[in-house]
Amino acid sequence: MDEAAELLAFEAKVAREERIEPKDWMPDAYRKNLIRQMSQHAHSEVIGMQPEGNWLTRAPTLRRKAILLAKVQDEGGHGLYLYGATETLGITREELIDALHEGRAKYASIFNYPSLTWADIGAIGWLVDGAAIVNQISLQRTSYGPYARAMVRICKEESFHQRQGYEIMLTLARGSAEQKAMAQDALNRWWWPSLMMFGPHDAESAHSAQSMRWKIKRQSNDELRQKFVDQTVPQADFIGLAIPDPQLKFNADRGHYDFGPIDWDEFQRVVAGNGPCNRERLANHLTAHREGEWVREAMAAHDAKRRARSAA
Ligand code: 3HC
Repeated sequence: MDEAAELLAFEAKVAREERIEPKDWMPDAYRKNLIRQMSQHAHSEVIGMQPEGNWLTRAPTLRRKAILLAKVQDEGGHGLYLYGATETLGITREELIDALHEGRAKYASIFNYPSLTWADIGAIGWLVDGAAIVNQISLQRTSYGPYARAMVRICKEESFHQRQGYEIMLTLARGSAEQKAMAQDALNRWWWPSLMMFGPHDAESAHSAQSMRWKIKRQSNDELRQKFVDQTVPQADFIGLAIPDPQLKFNADRGHYDFGPIDWDEFQRVVAGNGPCNRERLANHLTAHREGEWVREAMAAHDAKRRARSAA
């Protein structure tokens, strides 16, 4: 079929809610958009290990350390699922990592904020993983098969991530006055960057129109952000913490919470590389990548030997 006919067949398939698989014909723009979003999702999972990893040696109890260790390992696994799913689009892991190291690929701006106290580990699990779940549950219905299947797997683990974070915040909020103040301070610092995780407002979103048309995205940035706010405010109320937004108010006519303006200048500053931890995050990733080179070489040599044996 010629390109126009292929496109019509592709769009009819998407309209029928059929998954697009790696071997199917797809428009270059669909492939490019998916490589962009999926690889940035994978980069976010791996870079996101750093703020929490920072507290592995300082967790207050062995139980908290074991839970945090499991969570950080999960995030690394999520990154591997997503890199694997992205590679099905015809790009190598090396190309993806190079794009991150050369600043041609992004990761979620939220991970450029410092984890200053133990309460930050609670706020990250509760808010960052909470926001990620809202987004990723929606992505379980994305039109690209490998991405949708990776999301099903990841969402199962994210629920544990969010609950363990919320439990930390609950424990602190019910603890001493100092512990409650620590939890409130963490909520104050992580609330607005968590809302930024859903991306710019729909009207300013560069990719949403195409992503919604081809069902890469099933719900818009603002729709998912609103869902996150609506479900999280009652959780803050339950543990007696105050959301740092004087304009937050339930709007009975809309059936949703109205909330104040997001500081998009801060968002752009952090995305442009001028957040509190951007340089540190990338430097750590570059060091780990360099120090892990011998492992990649050993695996490649082992793989080559195995292939030679099976070919003989
Ligand atoms: N941080 C950094 N960049 C962001 C961003 C954020 N929070 N939100 C949007 N952007 C970037 C986009 O990547 C795009 O830039 P690009 O063209 O260079 O890629 C630009 O801002 C315009 O935004 P759009 O809304 O047009 O971009 P998208 O249509 O891609 O929507 C998104 C943004 C909603 C984040 C979408 O990419 C998405 O759903 N991604 C998958 C989920 C994801 O990546 N989550 C990141 C966190 S993972 C995580 O939290 C793990 C958990 O276990 C802790």
